[in-house]
Amino acid sequence: MTTPCHESVPPCALAVQRVSKTFCSARGTGVQALESIDLAVGSGEFVVLIGPTGCGKTTLLNIIAGLDHSDRGQVCFEAGMNRENALAYVFQHYTLFPWRRLLANVAFGLQMQGKKRPARNAAARALLGNVGLGHFEHAYPHELSGGMRQRAAIAQALAVEPRILLMDEPFGALDDATRKDLQQLLIDLWQTTKMSVLFVTHNIDEAVVMADRIVVLSDRPGRIVKEITVDLPRPRDQLTKPFTSRLLEVRQAMYSGARSVRDT
Ligand SMILES: Nc1ncnc2c1ncn2[C@@H]1O[C@H](COP(=O)(O)OP(=O)(O)OP(=O)(O)O)[C@@H](O)[C@H]1O
Ligand SMILES: [Mg+2]
Repeated sequence: MTTPCHESVPPCALAVQRVSKTFCSARGTGVQALESIDLAVGSGEFVVLIGPTGCGKTTLLNIIAGLDHSDRGQVCFEAGMNRENALAYVFQHYTLFPWRRLLANVAFGLQMQGKKRPARNAAARALLGNVGLGHFEHAYPHELSGGMRQRAAIAQALAVEPRILLMDEPFGALDDATRKDLQQLLIDLWQTTKMSVLFVTHNIDEAVVMADRIVVLSDRPGRIVKEITVDLPRPRDQLTKPFTSRLLEVRQAMYSGARSVRDT
């Protein structure tokens, strides 16, 4: 269910309220993926969701995006915003259209919005330039490296000028150097667009590099174990004491999330 968001301090772009989800199998057994999740993303805020594999991170993003439904609870948006006009989603798995050249891939969302070809191509071209793929507009996805595809996926999501961007482990399959490049690219784009971001990762370093706030989920069923504000200046120096103390805080919260489930 989608309703306007009334949480106003700080201004809230997106709020997940008491969301629970159980998947039922054909044999009648259930897998509870999420338990009573309450999560707000402020306007212009960068929130990182971190938790162990299988704890329901993708399920939560799918529920926010309207690709799945919750059993209980609701998702609401800032007044004037809804899934159709505010949201874009970079999926966990590679989602460019293999039969479309890069320009047409990036322009896809604008095409769906009914934008005329010259306008959508101009916008897509500018975005490809912003993500460092200006010379590849005629390439097909299979002609690109993994890092280039992720750049293209980011450009594709940003083409519709989302106010809220959902990203599900977008850099999970990349080598360290490419991951760092794309982290910086995303931070630059986020700072320029002032959009709200909800970003999923397994990687504790990545969480502390990127987040204004880190939300730590427990083992399945995913419950919020802790929220950690990361008020460090950007770009963040990973060798400083405040950075490493935040890493430790996240790691401890993840361990406590694992224990709390074993103990129940
Ligand atoms: N469509 C589905 N049908 C049945 N069970 C599902 C379905 N989707 C997810 N699940 C189960 O729900 C749980 C949460 O899955 P989800 O993909 O949300 O985890 P995740 O935190 O994103 O994991 P990962 O970090 O590995 O991507 C898992 O136990 C998974 O098996
Ligand atoms: Mg996932």
